[in-house]
Amino acid sequence: MTFVILFHIISRRRWVRFGNTMSAEQLEQYNRRAEQAEEEIRQLHSTLQKLLSGSANSNDTDSEEVARLRAENQKLRYRVGILRRATEEEQAKSGGAHSKTGSTAMAGGAQCLFVALSELFSAAIRAAFPDMDEVATAVNSNSRFGDYQCNAALPIVKRLKDKGVKMSPRDVAQKIIDCVPSSPLVERLEVAGAGFINVFVNKTFAAEQLRLMIVGGVPAPTVPRRRVVIDYSSPNIAKEMHVGHLRSTIIGDSIARLLDFLGHDVLRINHLGDWGTQFGMLIAHLADKFPNFRTETPPITDLQAFYKESKKRFDEDEAFKKRAYDCVVRLQSYEEDIIKAWKLICAVSEREFEKIYERLNVHGLVPRGESFYQSRMQGVVQQLTEAGFLEEDDGRKIMFAPGCDLPLTVVKSDGGFTYDTSDMAALRQRIQEERADWLIYVVDAGQGAHLQSVFACARRAGWLDGGVRCDHVGFGVVLGEDKKKFKTRSGDTVRLVDLLDEGVRRAQEKLREKGRDQELTADELREAQENVAYGCIKYADLSHNRNHEYVFSFDKMLDDRGNTAAYLLYALTRIRSISRRAQLTPEQLLEAARAGTAIQLLHEKEWKLARVLLRFPEVVVRVTEDLFIHSLCDYLYELSTTFTEFYDNCYCVEKDRQTGEVVNVNMSRMLLCEATAQVMTRCFDILGIKTVQKM
Ligand SMILES: *[C@@H]1O[C@H](CO)[C@@H](O)[C@H](O)[C@H]1NC(C)=O
Ligand SMILES: *[C@@H]1O[C@H](CO)[C@@H](O)[C@H](O)[C@H]1NC(C)=O
Ligand SMILES: *[C@@H]1O[C@H](CO)[C@@H](O)[C@H](O)[C@H]1NC(C)=O
Repeated sequence: MTFVILFHIISRRRWVRFGNTMSAEQLEQYNRRAEQAEEEIRQLHSTLQKLLSGSANSNDTDSEEVARLRAENQKLRYRVGILRRATEEEQAKSGGAHSKTGSTAMAGGAQCLFVALSELFSAAIRAAFPDMDEVATAVNSNSRFGDYQCNAALPIVKRLKDKGVKMSPRDVAQKIIDCVPSSPLVERLEVAGAGFINVFVNKTFAAEQLRLMIVGGVPAPTVPRRRVVIDYSSPNIAKEMHVGHLRSTIIGDSIARLLDFLGHDVLRINHLGDWGTQFGMLIAHLADKFPNFRTETPPITDLQAFYKESKKRFDEDEAFKKRAYDCVVRLQSYEEDIIKAWKLICAVSEREFEKIYERLNVHGLVPRGESFYQSRMQGVVQQLTEAGFLEEDDGRKIMFAPGCDLPLTVVKSDGGFTYDTSDMAALRQRIQEERADWLIYVVDAGQGAHLQSVFACARRAGWLDGGVRCDHVGFGVVLGEDKKKFKTRSGDTVRLVDLLDEGVRRAQEKLREKGRDQELTADELREAQENVAYGCIKYADLSHNRNHEYVFSFDKMLDDRGNTAAYLLYALTRIRSISRRAQLTPEQLLEAARAGTAIQLLHEKEWKLARVLLRFPEVVVRVTEDLFIHSLCDYLYELSTTFTEFYDNCYCVEKDRQTGEVVNVNMSRMLLCEATAQVMTRCFDILGIKTVQKM
């Protein structure tokens, strides 16, 4: 059955390749078949899993069956991988083909000038130099003369030279230009300098894109859809979140939001530290302090204090210590009462975390701690043992893999498991049960070597077959203003709650300094101080290259000059106030765009702003490649400063100096303001920053 379906899919793929075109309907059908095949694999997997879990009391026939299934499984995964990639290629191609047909196809959504232009140039290079496979054809937007630039001529000259053909870069560039298919995107092309091709974009076309953006919302570029599991935040149960959790939470959430925006299927996992020997003392203390915890939920409000109390007893009281150890054993054997106590503690803790997430505007994180993987570790060890991947080392069982410097310790000499084992179990669970084909771990840079080993061993075990992408999104530490690790004055780690409270207090101070408390209502003021405080904390983190450490400074992040959230949020409120001054509601602006009010891009600053606005999809796509969110922040800042240039040079609303009456509203420019506000809002949304109406 499975093979029959696969045969169909594979023969279809061949047909596609020869035919080289594919209608949306065919693509749909093709996708459905790939999904069917995956469903087959899923079933095969679950059979395999059942067999493996039952294999302790299995007989020889069973293990033969297991081997057969495993081999079949392996083959299928490989084929699905190939299929999925082929589908993605087709999707990318058909996306490109659509964009070449002009504005109608783009009106539906995704329009990425950069991708469309790159495709035009690949087509031209294929036609002009058929044997120049794989020359980078992407255009870039940091051209000083045109709107975009294509720099393919130089590498082609070099390739030609290797083949004994002499041609000047300018001639190569001209030949490429001659082969660029005609397109409404391009106003004109020219050869410049040492063989660069400058691209001048059709302004009428660009203006139309902006109008469509107002009508249909800021479009997400089309990308092949993936099932993503992203692991971030990950605090420890019964301990408070501190500044160390800040970066993982903020960066992880922003990446998850970005992937949501692009239409991926995103599962956010909070890999809580919810298992281990420290629970022994917590449970023992709970049982002593609240003997009827089985029937009455204990009123623990301060888990931190509770933790400290139990730790104190653990350190000082031998009998208590013994009971604590006993509780660990009983927890590990899943004794009912003990599990109940453990769940109570976890629940109190998670409620505390939830308050912080709420303040930080972090939603949808699924708590799934280390405990979840306990039962799965056995299966992992078994699979790795049977496949012969584990080596004996001084009583331990370790695993090496190509590209992994440090072996994983999968089984300790006492037979116990390690973090390596649970990380392997988590990875396998995410691929095999969650069906993820993209795993992202937002974990500090110090874990880099460990995660690389986990990825390498997973690859060796065949779990990443079929094109699973794994990313470690690392980040540096947060420093205090003294450039040392961020601590309180007394040298303790900074609690996140305190940091957020302090932020709100400082934001409030700033707003009062400016007399905003006189102008805003109480609600508006509260909204402003909270959104500004949390926005600034988040933005300060996100706007730095995550690989670097950064200095945490309230003064800097709340400064309303420079690349800060305070400045950007203020800029957005200012843009919104322009339409208020023109006495236009957002609905009226939308209506004007719908009715086809043209945006004119005649002034140099109007065109400059339009180009930045149209670069948004390009920036977003680039961020998904390297997962460096600070590029999006840089873009947002550039957009804001470009808007200011435009606004300083181009009248949008004219008022009579004497009467203050509005005498002239330039609708074309009002629509440019609106497009800017929409793109900025979209950026803030991806960054997880709430905007403010007034500040
Ligand atoms: C051994 O495997 C065969 C075939 O799957 C099955 O019929 C039989 O019941 C198994 N025997 C035991 C003891 O599990
Ligand atoms: C520019 O775009 C407009 C609108 O899409 C189109 O009518 C016009 O023909 C284009 N110009 C060029 C030179 O392609
Ligand atoms: C509005 O701005 C456009 C674009 O610069 C300009 O051509 C037009 O004359 C302006 N209209 C009014 C009414 O000011």
